[in-house]
Amino acid sequence: MSKTAEIADLALSLKEKGHKVINMASGELSFKPASEVRREACRVINKGETLYTQVAGKIELKKLISKKLKKDLNVDYKTNEIIVSNGGKQVIFNALQCTINRGDEVIIVSPYWVSYPEIVKLCGGKPKVLYAKREAGFSIDTKKLEKLITSKTKWLILNSPNNPTGIVYSFENLKKLVCLLTKYPNIWILSDDIYEKLNFSSERYTNIVSLEKKLKGRSLLVNGFSKGYCMTGWRLGYGAGPKMLIDEMTKIQSQSTSAANTIAQNAAIKALQLDEAYFDTIKTSLVKRRAIVTSALSDLQSFGFNFSQGAFYLFPSIKHFLGKKVKGKGKEVILDDTSFCLQLLSLKHVALVPGSSFGNKDSIRISYALSEKDLRLGCKRIKEFCERLV
Ligand SMILES: Cc1ncc(COP(=O)(O)O)c(C=O)c1O
Repeated sequence: MSKTAEIADLALSLKEKGHKVINMASGELSFKPASEVRREACRVINKGETLYTQVAGKIELKKLISKKLKKDLNVDYKTNEIIVSNGGKQVIFNALQCTINRGDEVIIVSPYWVSYPEIVKLCGGKPKVLYAKREAGFSIDTKKLEKLITSKTKWLILNSPNNPTGIVYSFENLKKLVCLLTKYPNIWILSDDIYEKLNFSSERYTNIVSLEKKLKGRSLLVNGFSKGYCMTGWRLGYGAGPKMLIDEMTKIQSQSTSAANTIAQNAAIKALQLDEAYFDTIKTSLVKRRAIVTSALSDLQSFGFNFSQGAFYLFPSIKHFLGKKVKGKGKEVILDDTSFCLQLLSLKHVALVPGSSFGNKDSIRISYALSEKDLRLGCKRIKEFCERLV
C-alpha cells in the first residue's frame, strides 16, 4: 500500500472510531459552487436537457472558454483548438497518451502534482525530474533544466500556482524559460493553470504562452472548474492547444469516456459568466486562512515555511524534526515525512500529506482549504505535536 493510502486509511478508521479528524490533506475547497451554477444544473436536469454533447464539448461552452482565454491571457484560441474533458486530469492524460512514444521523456518540476509522473509512466514515457530548491523559492533553474534536455524530451510540464508549494512563477522566471525553450523547438509545453483563479501574488496571472505567443503552436494550456469555481466533483476541465493536438486528444476521448457530463457543461457556461468579484471573495478568505496557519505555526522556528502566493497549500520543511521522538510516547523515531504524518495523525488526529508524494521527502503539505475553525484547531494540534518532539 502507498504511504498516502496508509494515511488516508488511518484517517478513516480514526473517524469511524468517533475521533474528530482534522483533514488538512484535502485538495478541494469547502465552498459551494456559485448559486447561478447550481441553479443551472438543476434547471437542465428538470428540463431533461441531458443528452450527449459533442465529444470535445458544447460549442457554446467552448466559445466562452475562448473568450475567457482572450480576456485573461490575451491569447486567441478558436473553438476547434479547445477540448472539454472530465477534469483537467483527463486533459493531461489525453494529451500525453496521444503524443508519447515508448521511451519519450517528460520533464517535471519537483515538487510536483502526484499524478504527473504516474500519467507519464502509464503512457509509456519516462519522467525526468528537475528538483526546484526551497532556498530559491522553488523557482525553475533554467541551467539545470537545460541539462535534463535530450533528443528524447517530448514535454515540459509547468504548474503555477503550484500544487503542492503554492508558489507562482515570476515574470522573470518565465522569461528565462521562454529564452531556453526558444532554443528547443521540438519540446512541447504543458502549462497546468488549474489554480489560475487562486493567485494572490501582486503580479497579474501569466503563463508562458501569454508571455510568448510564439510558443502557442507547441503548447497545451490545461485548466478547469475544479479549483477556482469549487466544482471538483462536477469533473470538468479543458485544454487549449493546436488543432492537430486537440483532434488527436478528441479521438482518445471519443473511445474512452466520450463527452464530459452534459449537466456540468451547462453549469460551466454560467460559471464562465461570473463576475471577477466572485473570485475576490474566495481569495480574501483564503488569504485569511493562510495567515491563520502561518501565524499559528510561525513561532515554531523549526518549521521552514515557503511563502505561498496561490492555490491553498503550504509546503513547510520538517528537516528539523527528523530523528526526534514524541516525548513520553514510545520509541518510534520520526524517520521521514511519512512517519511524521503517521504519528501526527495517530496522536493528534490531523491528516497532512507527506512531501515524498510530491517528490520532496523532507517536507509536508498543509492544505488551508478547510474552515477557519477547523484550521485553528488543526494548527493547535500540530503545534502541540511538534512541541513534544525531542
Ligand atoms: C496541479 C493539478 N492539476 C490538475 C488537477 C486535476 O484537477 P481536475 O481533474 O479535478 O480538474 C489537480 C487536482 O488536484 C491539480 O492539483
